[in-house]
Amino acid sequence: MYISNHFTLVRKISNGILICLAAILLGCGGGGGQEAAKPILIKFPHVTAPATPKGEAAERFKQVVEERLAGRVAVEVYPSAQLMSDDDSLDALAFGEVQMIAISLSKLDRLTHKFQIFDLPFLFPDLPAVERFQASDYGQGLLRSMVDSKLLGLSFWHNGMKQFSGPAPMRTPESAKGLKFRIMESDVLQAQILQIGGNPQKMAFAEVYQALQTGAVDAQENTWSNIYSSKFYEVQPYITETNHGYLGYLVAVNPDFWASLPDDIRSELALIVQEVTIWANEQSTIIDLAGKEKIIESGQSEVIELTADERAAWQRAMRPVWDTFSESIGADLIAAAQAYDK
Ligand code: LMR
Repeated sequence: MYISNHFTLVRKISNGILICLAAILLGCGGGGGQEAAKPILIKFPHVTAPATPKGEAAERFKQVVEERLAGRVAVEVYPSAQLMSDDDSLDALAFGEVQMIAISLSKLDRLTHKFQIFDLPFLFPDLPAVERFQASDYGQGLLRSMVDSKLLGLSFWHNGMKQFSGPAPMRTPESAKGLKFRIMESDVLQAQILQIGGNPQKMAFAEVYQALQTGAVDAQENTWSNIYSSKFYEVQPYITETNHGYLGYLVAVNPDFWASLPDDIRSELALIVQEVTIWANEQSTIIDLAGKEKIIESGQSEVIELTADERAAWQRAMRPVWDTFSESIGADLIAAAQAYDK
């Protein structure tokens, strides 16, 4: 009698332990199996307005993730530098304060010179040429080139080609002489402005409008969508359509965060990033050209279109920048990149 009661008690206790163990393994421990597991949070800060190629891509990423990984992953997008600047986001990603960024390739100069090739003026004639280069072995190799700095690239997103805006039409490179230009944090862009006799000032994106408005700087280079959405056209009477350089982004995560994700979540997120990349890179040109149209319609800034000869003069004037950086970038790589123009 005693023995049989004792066995019943032991079975009850071990069943209880098994139930508790199962609850813990299912992630319901502590709440008696009542509490649902919290979704993994991806904080995603960026510096452009929501209605830009990057702003739209980040929102689409959030929507698709929250549809396909509902309850398992949540994405918080912080546009317009409302959470932090690009420069600060590199540190925040490394320290795990944010989980994803999409930062201009030019601003990676702080961590590696490997991305300098994207800033060489007039190297890539258009976005398809950039895209072919990014898809090459070299381009794909760049994604993993900053893992030691706690930054793992997942993909490249386009914004568009850059134009110069300023206080006067800039038909010739000589017209840039003596002007103070805001540039992104890149030594190639600094050399490019020095090459045309301008005075380059590295500055965070969120400060540019005020710097132009107050005259702290006279001019800047950016894409149509950034010039429109950040209202630079309201304080820059002329925009010269040079298409002289590329502005695109590295979509990146912290490699430790990425490795810590459950396998199925990581592979689904990687798939979503690839799908959003295709969508975003198709949209970028549409959004950029819409920005140009809206600037023209506003009548607040005059758009200067260059003749082929005028554009060639800009190209010649800036070309020495290639020589300055050919050792750090690699002359063979520059030649290889040029081959992607067809
Ligand atoms: C800039 O600083 O001009 C750009 O990097 C902004 C952006 O992210 O497109």
